[in-house]
Amino acid sequence: MVRQRQRPQNKKISPVIAIANQKGGVGKTNVTFNLSGALAEKNQKILLIDLDQQGNLSSVFLDSIYNLKITVADILLDDDIPVLRAIQKTSFQNIDIIPSNIDLSKIDLQLAGEPDAQYFLVDKLKEIKASYDYTIIDCPPSLGLATRIGLVAADKVIIPLECQEWAVKGTAHLRGAIAKIRKRANPQLKIMGYLINRYDGRRKLEEVYRDTILESFKDKVFKVELKSSVRYAEAATFKKPITTYLPVSQYAEVYRRLAEEILDYG
Ligand SMILES: Nc1ncnc2c1ncn2[C@@H]1O[C@H](COP(=O)(O)OP(=O)(O)O)[C@@H](O)[C@H]1O
Ligand SMILES: [Mg+2]
Repeated sequence: MVRQRQRPQNKKISPVIAIANQKGGVGKTNVTFNLSGALAEKNQKILLIDLDQQGNLSSVFLDSIYNLKITVADILLDDDIPVLRAIQKTSFQNIDIIPSNIDLSKIDLQLAGEPDAQYFLVDKLKEIKASYDYTIIDCPPSLGLATRIGLVAADKVIIPLECQEWAVKGTAHLRGAIAKIRKRANPQLKIMGYLINRYDGRRKLEEVYRDTILESFKDKVFKVELKSSVRYAEAATFKKPITTYLPVSQYAEVYRRLAEEILDYG
């Protein structure tokens, strides 16, 4: 019998990317924000999911996060709420968001007795992820339930880090968590890459830490390095991704290159 050829892969892959690092302030939210702008500019339809109860990502896309009717917490806590109801359009073409606010803090207690809680987001995403080219999840600065939910729902992880003393060691717990999740809950989860952020270059010591990162993670480090620049913080303050805020600038260009690296990865 002739073996049937595998079905051609014309099915859309629609990868889900988690931006994670349990350390706060490394740029997870800023990267999610600016990367979504750069990918949207390349005609990619993006769904963002804010999994941080601080709701910083939601704040840069929406007017207020205090009076949201439905947040990511609602779809995690109530299986009857369709995920579509939680998706909000933003003022940017190609970017939608499932927002978050302090309500997300309820999940730790309310889902404590639910052994399957880590699967609640991946289950919900099944209904809609094919409508997007990329889903990008902004994880909180911890390795708690919200991050686990994000990693179980993701195909790939981007780990932003700064060239600082504990940068490599600091990712050990996250790498451990990823390895554990890969064993059973989500075997296809891959580390897509480590992303150097807030590189200043004026301090000699930074170069030493950067070498340590490159030696440790080798070709898993993105070619693109994001410099430290007040422009990135400004872009967030003015609620425009850098590719919109300063379209003709080295700061936007570097994000376009990062978007290319991600598109090449698949
Ligand atoms: N490359 C950068 N250059 C300058 N400031 C940055 C850069 N990346 C992030 N920031 C700023 O650093 C702060 C922390 O970044 P944020 O994205 O909130 O980190 P995280 O989400 O990992 O906690 C924010 O004020 C943000 O605007
Ligand atoms: Mg954040």
